[in-house]
Amino acid sequence: MDLTGQRICITGGAGFVGSHLAEFLVAENDVVVVDDFRNSRREWVPDDAEVVEGDLTDPATTEAAITPTTDLVFHLAADKSASRDELGQFRGNTAITEAVIDRMDAVGVSHIAYTSSSVVYGEAPRPTPEDYAPLEPISIYGASKLAEESLLSVFAHSHDFTVWNFRFANIVGPRLQLGAVIPDFIDKLSHTPDELEILGDGRQEKSYMHIDDCVAAMCHVVEHADKPVNTYNLGTRTTTSVTRIGEIVAEEMGLDPTFTFTGGDRGWTGDVPRMRLSIEKLSALGYEPEQSSDDAVRQAVRELIPEHAH
Ligand SMILES: NC(=O)c1ccc[n+]([C@@H]2O[C@H](COP(=O)([O-])OP(=O)(O)OC[C@H]3O[C@@H](n4cnc5c(N)ncnc54)[C@H](O)[C@@H]3O)[C@@H](O)[C@H]2O)c1
Repeated sequence: MDLTGQRICITGGAGFVGSHLAEFLVAENDVVVVDDFRNSRREWVPDDAEVVEGDLTDPATTEAAITPTTDLVFHLAADKSASRDELGQFRGNTAITEAVIDRMDAVGVSHIAYTSSSVVYGEAPRPTPEDYAPLEPISIYGASKLAEESLLSVFAHSHDFTVWNFRFANIVGPRLQLGAVIPDFIDKLSHTPDELEILGDGRQEKSYMHIDDCVAAMCHVVEHADKPVNTYNLGTRTTTSVTRIGEIVAEEMGLDPTFTFTGGDRGWTGDVPRMRLSIEKLSALGYEPEQSSDDAVRQAVRELIPEHAH
């Protein structure tokens, strides 16, 4: 699908990934951002985008945001936190996706790009390709992503939808909020410059992709893949350990803290300690990430220090 001259609705379009995507798409398309600003800021939405404010589970919101003139929905809105209300998070995320799909089907909109996650693979061998099975997520968030993917598959195969399904590695860059490792480390070191507490044993090893690469890769896939369901991993070929992130943050803040570790092989229950996605499918479609995982982390640290150091 050509991403010029389209009317594009971005759910969660004021959030971290969504606001960068809106900035990129607004240059050559009509962009409608729909968000209730529970985890985002209005000033992150580019001036040229239309804004529909509301909860996506309220039919009035989907009716205003998705209309017969919509060409494509980028569906990003979700609760991605490590939630204490686990089943509530499952119901919440799946309810948003159900509401979006239902409205699309009602008004004849059939193109949707969806942001899934590496967490659908659970603790799989690495690098993990898109056709790895069995999919055994270990968090409720992962279960909600997998459930939403399966709902989209049904609409692709039985209602003529075209679905672009992105399984993200960890995406980093400006506007990333607390709860993600880089903002958390910057915040902790701002409070206690001599010590950095790291969750787990610090040897967790994951792949980080910069938001600029992520947005470019998503748009490349939408423009070049046209099956009913197009599932693509989005990540980098390399990984960065949590301890290495701590070192990079300390270096960039000009500090030399002592690291302490809470212990155990993971940060929290449901955390997948090692993640690296195969990106051969993305590469074969003609997109190669510009930055390695370490480079993406360092650039994001530089971008996030002004936002989170205090
Ligand atoms: N950032 C990552 O590393 C990463 C990794 C894997 C997958 N993802 C997925 O990518 C998508 C975007 O993630 P993000 O990092 O930008 O998160 P984010 O929290 O910054 O963005 C989500 C947006 O959705 C909005 N939202 C949530 N529930 C809503 C509702 N009921 N009604 C209206 N708006 C609602 C929030 O206000 C927020 O602006 C999510 O689906 C997330 O699961 C992100």
